[in-house]
Amino acid sequence: MPPRSRKRKVYPRPFLKWPGGKRQLLPEYEARFPEEIIKTRSIKRYVEPFVGAGALFFFLIRNYDVRESYLLDINPELTMAYHVIKNQHKELLERLGDLEDTYLNKRFIGRKRYYYHLRKRYNHQLKNFDFYNFHEGWIERTSLIIFLNKTCFNGLFRFNKKGEFNVPTGRYEKPHICDERNIIEVNKALKNTEIINADFTVSANFIEKDTLVYLDPPYRPLNNTSRFTNYTKNIFTDDDQRRLAEFFKEMDRKGAYLMLSDSDPKNEDPHDEFFDILYRNYLIERVMARRLINRNIFKRGEIKELIIRNYS
Ligand SMILES: C[S@@+](CC[C@H](N)C(=O)[O-])C[C@H]1O[C@@H](n2cnc3c(N)ncnc32)[C@H](O)[C@@H]1O
Repeated sequence: MPPRSRKRKVYPRPFLKWPGGKRQLLPEYEARFPEEIIKTRSIKRYVEPFVGAGALFFFLIRNYDVRESYLLDINPELTMAYHVIKNQHKELLERLGDLEDTYLNKRFIGRKRYYYHLRKRYNHQLKNFDFYNFHEGWIERTSLIIFLNKTCFNGLFRFNKKGEFNVPTGRYEKPHICDERNIIEVNKALKNTEIINADFTVSANFIEKDTLVYLDPPYRPLNNTSRFTNYTKNIFTDDDQRRLAEFFKEMDRKGAYLMLSDSDPKNEDPHDEFFDILYRNYLIERVMARRLINRNIFKRGEIKELIIRNYS
C-alpha cells in the first residue's frame, strides 16, 4: 500500500481532492497579486467564480486578512458540502468519525465491500435529492462525498453520464477520513464567506472596483469534438470560454483585479491561438507546471499553464 503523504499539513486547506487543484501554482499566483494587496496583506473583497476545492481561497485565508469572500460553483454537490461545513460542521464531524472508525476497523476485503456499499448508497440518493433547500440529508451526503473522495482510487472524482460516481476503491493504509482539525479551520474560514451554486456570470453581482477575482475554469479539452459539444455534464465548451472572455471584459470595466488561469493549448498545438486572441488586450503569461496530461503515466510531465491578468 502506498505510504501516507509526509508533506507538512497546513490549515485550513481544501477538504476535497478536486480535479484541477492548483496547489503547486500558488507561488506563481501570489507573485502576481496586485501590489496594494501584497503591501497591505489585506483583501477587502475576494470572488472566486469556479471555486472547486478552493486551493487559492484557503491559501489567502492562511496568509492574508480577507474581509469578505464570495465562492461560486455550478456543481451542487460541492456547494452543498461547503454549506454543511459552514453551518453544521459538528454534526458532519460526528458522521465522519463513525465512517472512519468503521472503515479502519475492517481488513482489506471488508473495506472494499464497505466502500462499494457506501458508493451504491451515494448513487441511489441522487434520485430526487434536493440540493437547493437544506435538509438533514445534506449532512449525510457530505460525509459520503468526503469518505469516497478520501478512499477512492487516486482521489479521482469522476461521474458517468447519469451523474453516478464510478471510481473504484483505492488502497490507502490509513486514510484520514475525519480530518477534524481541518474541518474546524475550514468552518472558521467560511465565516465571512457566501457560497453560491450558480453559473460564473452570477458573480457579477458581487464584483466591484478593486475586488480581487480569481477565475479557474475547467480546462479546455485537448480533444476537438468535446470543445463543441457539451455531451458530459462537466465540459466547458469553446462557447463557454467566449462567454467567459466577455465576462472578463465587463468585470475589467468595473475596475476589478482579474486573474485567470487555464491550460495552454500550445502544449499540444503550437499554432493554437485560441486564448491569445480571446485575451489579446490583456497580459498573458505562460508558466511551467507539473501535470498529468495523459492517462498514460509515462506522459506525465512539465507543461505550460496560462495566467492572464487585466493589471500588471
Ligand atoms: C478547474 S476547477 C477549479 C479548481 C480549483 N481552482 C481548485 O483549486 O480546486 C473548475 C470548477 O468550475 C466548475 N464549473 C464548471 N462550469 C462552471 C460554470 N459555468 N460556472 C461556475 N462553475 C463552473 C466545476 O464544477 C469545477 O469545480
